[in-house]
Amino acid sequence: MLVLGFESSCDETGVALIEVPPSAAPRLLAQALHSQISMHQAYGGVVPELASRDHIRRVLPLTREVLAESGRALGDVDVIAYTQGPGLAGALLVGAGVAVAMAAALNKPTLGIHHLEGHLLSPFLSADAPEFPFVALLVSGGHTQLMRVDDVGQYQMLGETIDDAAGEAFDKSAKLLGLPYPGGPHLAKLALSGDPKAFDLPRPMLKSGKPDFSFAGLKTAVLTQVKRLGEAPTEQERADLAASTQAAIVELLVRKSLLALKETGLKRLVVAGGVGANALLRAQLNASCGKRGIRVHYPELSLCTDNGAMIAMAAALRLQRGMATLNRDGAFAVRPRWTLGAA
Ligand code: KG4
Ligand code: ZN
Repeated sequence: MLVLGFESSCDETGVALIEVPPSAAPRLLAQALHSQISMHQAYGGVVPELASRDHIRRVLPLTREVLAESGRALGDVDVIAYTQGPGLAGALLVGAGVAVAMAAALNKPTLGIHHLEGHLLSPFLSADAPEFPFVALLVSGGHTQLMRVDDVGQYQMLGETIDDAAGEAFDKSAKLLGLPYPGGPHLAKLALSGDPKAFDLPRPMLKSGKPDFSFAGLKTAVLTQVKRLGEAPTEQERADLAASTQAAIVELLVRKSLLALKETGLKRLVVAGGVGANALLRAQLNASCGKRGIRVHYPELSLCTDNGAMIAMAAALRLQRGMATLNRDGAFAVRPRWTLGAA
């Protein structure tokens, strides 16, 4: 069986084709991605209407690319999966509309996928896939959650952020430091030459005893320091503040992940979402978990941020387990706000 997957929930258009054998692991045949980052950079963030229009421009050429690379024809596709939510309504509608129209033309069913389930299951795209059950740390631009994952579709929330997401904390702090959007990777790069102890930044809720997060206070503290540094901070001061900010965010993520692992007694951690690409987070998780005999799984670096492969993979795993509610009537609805696990 062949699954074509579309991702268009935010500022990346992703398309991928996955082969689903009856019982062996699904196999990624080809994928293509277009990032809109440079288009939104001038505005300091994603402009929803521009995002939707660009998804329209990109999705069919990317699909042709994927089919050509895999040597398959559109007629070979059995199921078309798309990100149904959460995300930007207009952007989601592009992926959903194209998926449903294409499926109608081919007389094939569609399958709407939850974007976070895509992130959560993205480590199954790597050769060294995790086994269930595991604790998942989902850290993206819009979400920061710790979940217990017993199988595909069996997710139990252990804790989440009460305000900003970890990616937002990176992006907002980076903006305050004058770095381009999205700031996470830029801040991480600047932090390389900085001293993480130079600024004493708060770790909100570090000692709450629960695996939940708060990042809003940290952003305010960064703002205070930026103001204190004045008009023309030195390159070293900026690097020091970047390093201190990154250290605070990473410490919160690591400590809360360890707490969730301890609470559940599980020995496997899966890190997913864009912030999972952060090198310091990976190093510190590896060190802390290594000491406790906990295995940490990460998606490939290129699959940490939004992509079509994770959507096709989530669909493939659902199909293999007979857990997919396929749609054949040409109707569709996107879900811009959608809690993972909610009906
Ligand atoms: O999962 P993702 O691509 O999109 C959402 O679904 O939100 O995550 C994007 C987020 C952004 O906030 C970006 O700054 C952050 O991931 N990010 C990073 C790094 N790479 C991406 N944050 C810190 N360090 C990185 N290396
Ligand atoms: Zn995402």
